[in-house]
Amino acid sequence: MDVQPPASLRSPLRLPHKALMGAGPANAPPRVLHAAAQPLVGHMHPEAFRVMDEIKEGLQYAFQTTNPVTVCLSCAGHGGMEAALSNLLEPGDVAVVPLNGHWGARASDMITRHGARVVPLELPLGQPVTLEAAEEVVSKHRPRLLFLVQAESSTTTLQPLEGFGPMCHKYGTLLVVDAVASLGGYPLWTDRWELDVVYTGSQKVLNAPPGLSPITFSPRAMERVASRRKPCDVYYWDIMQLGDYWGCFGNPRKYHHTGPITLFYALREALAILASEGLTASWRRHEQAALRLRAALERLGAKLFIEDPRHRVHTLTGFTLPRNVDPVAVTRTAMIRHGVELGPGLGPTAGRIMRVGLMGVNAEAWAVDNVISVLEDCVKNPIPNSSL
Ligand code: GLV
Repeated sequence: MDVQPPASLRSPLRLPHKALMGAGPANAPPRVLHAAAQPLVGHMHPEAFRVMDEIKEGLQYAFQTTNPVTVCLSCAGHGGMEAALSNLLEPGDVAVVPLNGHWGARASDMITRHGARVVPLELPLGQPVTLEAAEEVVSKHRPRLLFLVQAESSTTTLQPLEGFGPMCHKYGTLLVVDAVASLGGYPLWTDRWELDVVYTGSQKVLNAPPGLSPITFSPRAMERVASRRKPCDVYYWDIMQLGDYWGCFGNPRKYHHTGPITLFYALREALAILASEGLTASWRRHEQAALRLRAALERLGAKLFIEDPRHRVHTLTGFTLPRNVDPVAVTRTAMIRHGVELGPGLGPTAGRIMRVGLMGVNAEAWAVDNVISVLEDCVKNPIPNSSL
C-alpha cells in the first residue's frame, strides 16, 4: 500500500453528549435520531417517495402554504439561499438587500456571483428594515427581488414581514425570505403574507440533523422561473428539475440526485413532532422561553444586544457580559466543564456578543435555567487560559 490504513480508524466512533445552546444545530430528540437509523431504501423506491410526500405535507404546514412546489434541498441552509437566488435571478437583474448583519452580506455575495446587481439598503447593525424604507428603494429600482431575513442570527434581530409581500408585488418584485433560524419558532405565514420563496434549515427549530434545506416557491415565483431566458445556471439548484424529483408537477418522478434518505427519515419525524405539538403552541413555547432567558440574563448583569424588545428574535438571544468578564473564557468553560455550547457572535458581531439559542426541544424552562446556572458558574469561575 502506498498509504496505510489510518490508526485513527482502528477504534469505533464515540462522541459526547452536549447541550447545543448556540446558533444551531440544536439537539435532536431521540425519536428523530432513531428515525435516521431505520433501514435504508433506495432513493427512487416507493417507500422513499412516500416519506418525501409526507415531508412535503409537513413543510406545507410549517411554512403555512399550499404551494405545490414545496420541497427539501439536500444541503445546508446556505444551499437554500443559493437555490432561491439562482432560480430567480439572471445576469443583469437587480436585487435589493438590507445590509444589517451577516446574512445580507452573504446573500449579496451570492447574487453578485450569479451576475446580478445588488442595491444595498444600508442600516445600522441589528436594525430591521421598515416597510416604508423598503418601499422607497423597491419603487425606485423595481428590482427582481427583495431579500429579507426573518431572524438575523448574527445580530439576533427580528425582521417583520407583514405587508412586504403586497408592497413588492405592486412593483413586480418578488419577496425572498430566509427563515433558517426562525421557522417553527416564530409566526410565519407564507401564503397570508404573500412571500414568494421561503427557505429554512433542518438543524435549528425543526430539530433534525443538519444537511437539509426545506424551501417553498409561490406560483408567482414559479412564473418567474418559467419565464427565464435560460434555465437556472446551477443544475443542482434547478427547481424545475428538483420539482420532478419531488413530484411537484404531476409528472412521473425523475432522478435528479441521490437524496440523503436517512436525513429524510429524520426530518419526517421532526415534522411529525411539530405537527403534533402545533405551530401556535411551538411559537408560544419559544416566546416564553426567550422571555425567561432575557429576564435571567439581565439579573446576571448581561446587556441584551437588541434594545427594542419588538426587534428581538425568540430563538436566539444576543448579549454582552459585564466589562470585566472574558466571553471567550466563559464559552470555553461552559463547554469543558459542563458540556454546554454557548454561541459566540458571527460576522460583524464576532468578538462583540455572545448568543444563546433556544430552538425546538431546547426552548423549555429547564433548558433556560440550566444555561443560566452554567453561565453563572462560568462567569464566577472561568477556567483561566494558563491552565489549558
Ligand atoms: C449560524 O446560523 C449562526 O448564526 O451562527
